[in-house]
Amino acid sequence: MSLKGKRVVVVGGTSGIGLATAKAFAEESAQVIIASRSASKLADAKRTLGDQVEGYELDFRDEGKLTEFFTKVGNFDHLVITAGDGAMGPFSELPVNAVKEAFDSKFWGQYVTAKAAVPYLNKAGSITLTSGVYGIRPPKGASTLASINSAIEGLVRGLAVDLAPIRVNVVSPGIVDTPIYAGMPDAQRDAMFDGIAGQLPVGRIAQPVDIGQSYVYLAKNGFTTGTSVLVDGGAHLV
Ligand SMILES: NC(=O)c1ccc[n+]([C@@H]2O[C@H](COP(=O)([O-])OP(=O)(O)OC[C@H]3O[C@@H](n4cnc5c(N)ncnc54)[C@H](OP(=O)(O)O)[C@@H]3O)[C@@H](O)[C@H]2O)c1
Repeated sequence: MSLKGKRVVVVGGTSGIGLATAKAFAEESAQVIIASRSASKLADAKRTLGDQVEGYELDFRDEGKLTEFFTKVGNFDHLVITAGDGAMGPFSELPVNAVKEAFDSKFWGQYVTAKAAVPYLNKAGSITLTSGVYGIRPPKGASTLASINSAIEGLVRGLAVDLAPIRVNVVSPGIVDTPIYAGMPDAQRDAMFDGIAGQLPVGRIAQPVDIGQSYVYLAKNGFTTGTSVLVDGGAHLV
C-alpha cells in the first residue's frame, strides 16, 4: 500500500524515535504532521524535516487540546504516537505518584489521543502506538514500564477489534539512542549503552532509524492488526 500523499500524524514527532519516524514517512512521500509540547523542538524538527511538514504544539495528556488539534488537522490517514514519559525505580521506593504520572503520560496519553483521533481517521488507515521491550523483559526497577507497556499492548488488541476496519498495532522498541537519556551524565549513559550492546545478539543498541521503519511497515501492511512488532536487537532473549 503506497503512502504517497497520505496524511500521517506523528504525536511525539519532534525527537528521537518520533522524529526518525516522521522522516521515514516523509521519505515515502507522505504528508507529515508532527506534534509535541515544545515550540523549540518543533522548530528544530521542522528544520530537519523540511518546510512541507506541518507542526503543532500539543500536550497529549490534555483532552481539550487534543480535540482542538484534530479539528485543525482535519481528516487524515495514519496516526503514530511515540510521545510518553516513563518512570524507573525499585518498586518499594518509587512513589506511587511518580507511577501514576507515568501512566498519565505514556498509557493515558496514547489512549486519549487515539480516542480523539478516530472521528478524523480514514477507515482504511491505521493507528500505531508505542510500548517497549520492558513490557515482556523488565530488568530490576522497571515494574512501572513493564505494567504500562503491557497495558498498551492489551489496549492495542482490544482496539484492533473495536475500531475495525481501522488497523491498530504497536511498536515495542529495545534500547534506542535518543534524547530520552539526555538527563544522564555522558559517561554514565555511554557505559550503560556499551554494557547493553555487549549483551545483545546484534552487538549494538538501536538508532532511531531502526525503529522508525517499523511504523512505516505497519502503516503500509493492510493485513496487520492487533499485533506488537518487537524491535529490540534480541533483548528479549538474553
Ligand atoms: N529510547 C529508548 O530506549 C526507548 C526504549 C523503549 C521504549 N521507548 C519509548 O519510545 C517512545 C519515544 O521515546 P524516545 O526515546 O524517542 O523519546 P524522546 O526522544 O524523548 O522523544 C519523546 C517525544 O515525545 C514528546 N512528548 C513527550 N511528552 C509529551 C506530551 N505530554 N505531549 C506531547 N508530546 C510529548 C517529546 O516532545 P516535547 O518534549 O516537545 O513534548 C518528544 O518529541 C516513548 O514512549 C518511550 O517510552 C523508548
